[in-house]
Amino acid sequence: MSAPANVCVVIPAAGLGERLGLDQPKAFVSVNNWSLLSLTIRRVLDIARVGHLIVAVPLDFKTEALEHIDRAMRDANKKIPFDVVVGGETRTQSVKNSLLALDQLDSFVLVHDAARPFVPQSVFESVIGKLDSGAKVVIPVIPVSDTIKTVNEKSEVVNTLDRTQLRAVQTPQGFAREVLSEIYATTDLKPTTDDAGLAEIAGINVSTVAGSVESFKITTPFDLEMATNFMNRK
Ligand code: CTP
Ligand code: MG
Repeated sequence: MSAPANVCVVIPAAGLGERLGLDQPKAFVSVNNWSLLSLTIRRVLDIARVGHLIVAVPLDFKTEALEHIDRAMRDANKKIPFDVVVGGETRTQSVKNSLLALDQLDSFVLVHDAARPFVPQSVFESVIGKLDSGAKVVIPVIPVSDTIKTVNEKSEVVNTLDRTQLRAVQTPQGFAREVLSEIYATTDLKPTTDDAGLAEIAGINVSTVAGSVESFKITTPFDLEMATNFMNRK
């Protein structure tokens, strides 16, 4: 048997967190004295197959990012090679900048938002497992519990979508390295809110695995409150 494929995790952490509305970029905001960036990296370090980390941060945050990476690595008592890159104006551009730091040895690339610090290990393992079995693009999804309707510009209901066919999409989104590099190199980079969106535009099959409610995304002040409660739960 050949050795398992190397996994690189790309963490887009260059957003400003405008909806959170604090005086620093969201990835550098703390919950119980741990920044979202440190918490996220700490989780990533629990995944044995991950051998490379790339973090995209806002301009002027490179030095600060090193402290957050160091904190997670000291806590995990584990060091892996990493790169810190400056992100772009959109998430899509931040991921594109990150891909310049990829190594030939990185067979699989998992893109995981710093805004989802509580992602369970099992979700990473499901994504990696699906890539091992030959999938080129894999995303974690969860069923939608609300009824979803579309509305027009006057906020009037246009129609109701069939909930059984809907899924909420999370990260980490996993890719064979060449596929990710290719879709970022060849699409017109119309900003998408996730990476698999570019694969869809390119006509590449996207597989799904079970995500987790624990992998909720921190976007608003209420989410930050939920994060504090989540960390303090017994
Ligand atoms: N992100 C990024 N570069 C950007 C925008 C977003 O790396 N130019 C990252 C964020 O840091 C976050 C993830 O992409 O980890 C998801 O984005 P989002 O939750 O929208 O974060 P922000 O863009 O920071 O928040 P907001 O949209 O409220 O400003
Ligand atoms: Mg954003």
